[in-house]
Formats: sequence, C-alpha cells, structure tokens
Amino acid sequence: MRIPLIAGNWKMNKNPEQTREFVSAVKSKLPQSGKVETVIGAPAVDLEALVESSADTQLKPAAENCYFEDAGAFTGENSPKVLSEMHIPYVIIGHSERREYFHETDEDVNKKAHQIFKNRMTPILCVGESLEIREKGETNKWVEDQVKAGIKGLTEDQVSRLVIAYEPIWAIGTGKTATSEQAEEVCAHIRKVVEKLYSEGVAEKMRVLYGGSVKPENIKELMGKKNIDGGLVGGASLEPESFLQLANYND
Ligand code: G3H
Repeated sequence: MRIPLIAGNWKMNKNPEQTREFVSAVKSKLPQSGKVETVIGAPAVDLEALVESSADTQLKPAAENCYFEDAGAFTGENSPKVLSEMHIPYVIIGHSERREYFHETDEDVNKKAHQIFKNRMTPILCVGESLEIREKGETNKWVEDQVKAGIKGLTEDQVSRLVIAYEPIWAIGTGKTATSEQAEEVCAHIRKVVEKLYSEGVAEKMRVLYGGSVKPENIKELMGKKNIDGGLVGGASLEPESFLQLANYND
C-alpha cells in the first residue's frame, strides 16, 4: 500500500517568519503521516525555520534543489550532506523551472538523485512535457526518456522509495489542470517504465505524484486515480487553508 503524499512547493516565496507562521497555522490540523504524508518544499533561506518549526509535527520539510557534490568550490550551491544533517528527508530535483531557467540537465538530475540517496534522503524527481511535445503526441516518449535518464543506476531499493512527480509544463501556474484521465495515463506509463526496467514489485512501491494547478477543487478526482499517489502543489500550497484542504482531501 502506497501512502498518499501531498507536497507543497513554495518556489521562491515566503521568508523565515512567514514560514513559522504557516507551520503554526497548519500543524494541529494535519493528517497522521501514516494516512497522508505532508511535505513542504521551501527555499533554502527558509529551511532552518521550516525544520525548527515543523519538528514534532506531521509536516516534513523538503529542499527545492541541491547540488550533486557534498562540499567544495561550488559557489551558491546547497550541499545534500548538510541538508541531511539538518534532518531534511526530501529534495525536489528536476523541476521544469530548474530545467528551463537554470539549465539543469537529465544528467545533473541523475547525479543529484544518487547523491540524495547516498545522504539517506529521498528525491522527488520531476518530469513533464511542454505543450509543443503534447500537441505532437510525444508525451509518453518524452516523459519515459526523462524517467530513464533520471533514475539511471539507482538500485531497486532506491527506486522503491523514490517519488516521481509528473508535471506537464503547460499546466504549471496556468490554472489549466491536466484532466484526471490525462494525468493518470502518464502516471501509469511512468509506473510501466519502472516495471520494465526493474520489476512489478518496485513499480508498485514507488510513488507517483501529479503536479500542475492542483487545488482543493480537483484533488479528490485526481486522488481517485489508480496511479496517482499525491500532488506536488505550487500556488495552492502557499495558504494554510488551501494546503490543509488538500492534505485532508479524504475527510
Ligand atoms: O511544483 C509545483 C508545480 O510547479 C505546480 O505549480 O500548482 O502553481 O501549478 P502550481
């Protein structure tokens, strides 16, 4: 049984004080992590506040990026080793904004995935197609290639614990959600790709999220799909009220 996961991605929003206020507003109303796991991905400058304020709550912190080396002359980068020492369990990698604006390649994403696992954390690996790719009918092939490149060389155990987030670029921050059928089709394809590369057991354990204009109004329908195990949520994760509605979608 896969535990549903509702993960916020704040992107470059909020400061440490707003981070503490958010956690204080949601902490007593979150589901038990055995029922629905809740995660917030925050900017690096807010992580200390997030870790401190969410200790002893059901909310788990995530970094939005890290480098693929633990230390060295890499000005401006964040060390996966230090994130792990800060007790951060998840790191988002390969987000389409990182791929587009910061030129993160599939090879970078793969190296980051290895380093994150080496530091006993879990990557939330994002994949997804542009509108152009979708209109050409090449979505499954595109996403398959990103998944294969991103997980290259990972062990069965690592892939079982991995989280993949399918985020069609055309649905991010646009208010255009993929229909639940479109989302399910690609999430199911991702699981099939992993099944072929590893095994059915590994594919059945791995969680696949959908992201792209997820909101309280559409979460229930998305979560009703067999291969969608949760959401990676941008805009609707910024306000305590909508995040709580998403986290408690089952109530
Ligand atoms: O990581 C989250 C996604 O980019 C989705 O953002 O929910 O604002 O569309 P959004």
